[in-house]
Amino acid sequence: MANKPNSTIAPADGKLGILIPGMGAVTSTFIAGVEAVKRGLGLPIGSLTQMATIRLGKRTDGRSPKIKDFVPLASLESLVFGGWDIYEDNGYEAAVRANVLERPILDQLKEPLSAIKPMKAVFDHEYVKRINGPNVKTGANKMVLAEALMQDIQDFKAHNNCARLVMIWCGSTEVFHRPAAVHQTLASFEEGLRNNDPDIAPSQIYAYAALRLRVPFANGAPNLTTDIPALQELARTNEVPICGKDFKTGQTYMKTLLAPGFKARMLGVRGWFSTNILGNRDGEVLEDPGSFKSKEETKLSVLEQILQPELYPELYGNLYHAVRINYYPPRGDAKEGWDNIDIFGWLGYPMQIKIDFLCRDSILAAPLVLDLVLFLDLAQRSGMKGIQEWLSFYFKGPMTAPGLYPEHDIFIQLMKLKNTLRWMQGEDLITHLGLEYYD
Ligand SMILES: NC(=O)c1ccc[n+]([C@@H]2O[C@H](COP(=O)([O-])OP(=O)(O)OC[C@H]3O[C@@H](n4cnc5c(N)ncnc54)[C@H](O)[C@@H]3O)[C@@H](O)[C@H]2O)c1
Repeated sequence: MANKPNSTIAPADGKLGILIPGMGAVTSTFIAGVEAVKRGLGLPIGSLTQMATIRLGKRTDGRSPKIKDFVPLASLESLVFGGWDIYEDNGYEAAVRANVLERPILDQLKEPLSAIKPMKAVFDHEYVKRINGPNVKTGANKMVLAEALMQDIQDFKAHNNCARLVMIWCGSTEVFHRPAAVHQTLASFEEGLRNNDPDIAPSQIYAYAALRLRVPFANGAPNLTTDIPALQELARTNEVPICGKDFKTGQTYMKTLLAPGFKARMLGVRGWFSTNILGNRDGEVLEDPGSFKSKEETKLSVLEQILQPELYPELYGNLYHAVRINYYPPRGDAKEGWDNIDIFGWLGYPMQIKIDFLCRDSILAAPLVLDLVLFLDLAQRSGMKGIQEWLSFYFKGPMTAPGLYPEHDIFIQLMKLKNTLRWMQGEDLITHLGLEYYD
């Protein structure tokens, strides 16, 4: 990759509007968190854009600025939030209902959170079965609904005096579906919108509306959404960056930490059984087999790609991998993820590892939302378009260009992310290859 002069990145002037379909646990925790950080009530822990540094040049140079001081990111003060939901709860009510952050902190943020009122959603019960709400748009066909969303986006931008926008899907997980004929070209997709084609999901209508208006789009759920040629074509033609899918938080995050470690040491893996209990609305939606299938696909794909059984059949050719999610209301958002890993070493001797991760789903997801919206905005100001593979770091099922396999190893993903930032600013890429031995 050639070095790129930094003069091509447009400055982050003015307000950046963050538009979010789905204002539930993740969204309310994200927005409340940003408002809390702005007021000095907490730290943005888990966010690379706010906390991480990036090494530049040789190790002896001693140059390690914070990422936010190295690339021109939008500031937290410049962010404005809006979104859609099928429920009418405002941002404060949604946060109280989600029960992730505690009341004392939420009450200090009541004013900015209450001001965020969800716009009427584009919703289809066939795609998310377990919930129903009143705050829903009606329209003669899906194209009319897409146009209504475009109107919402333009109104939001004008009303809040935003210079730029980004959209990130934090709505419920839609049922699993494969790309169909209607998804193949932009022309067939637009025809399908006008004909109310049942294969077009609500998340795809939001994505279409965003991309038509040149608003970058990220997908935090495992839905198909922009993983189709039609919307990728629109992203390229309109020069808009997109990325997805399914935030890499709790259990899969652990998997992408451990699996590269086993492979690095050539340790075998015979089985990996993962089960979860969670009691939030996300867990309720995932009780539906169609929605669970979407989640299962992204969760299962990770190990296969990291361990490469086709290259290491003796170590990983016979791996049994199972993932379960159990809805258990008493836990709310405080999920528990258990993993039993059967590994083997020297001469095939078996060993076991048990992990019990008592995590908080939305606490892990919120900083990812922040980084993604800031990086997508940066990407757009840098003239980058289409699938942003350098943001794979954040996803369980990273989108890739057709024909390429996704990179799941979190350490390779991090290197790719940081090297992309170095490249944007015309700095040398860091390969960690120490050629000093030959000097
Ligand atoms: N929290 C995590 O760690 C994590 C990790 C990976 C993925 N995710 C995904 O992020 C998404 C959000 O998670 P959550 O815990 O906030 O769930 P949630 O159920 O609390 O919130 C989702 C919201 O989306 C709304 N919604 C559903 N369909 C909609 C539509 N068509 N338009 C507008 N709103 C719609 C629902 O009414 C709900 O309020 C889920 O798909 C989840 O699978 C979360």
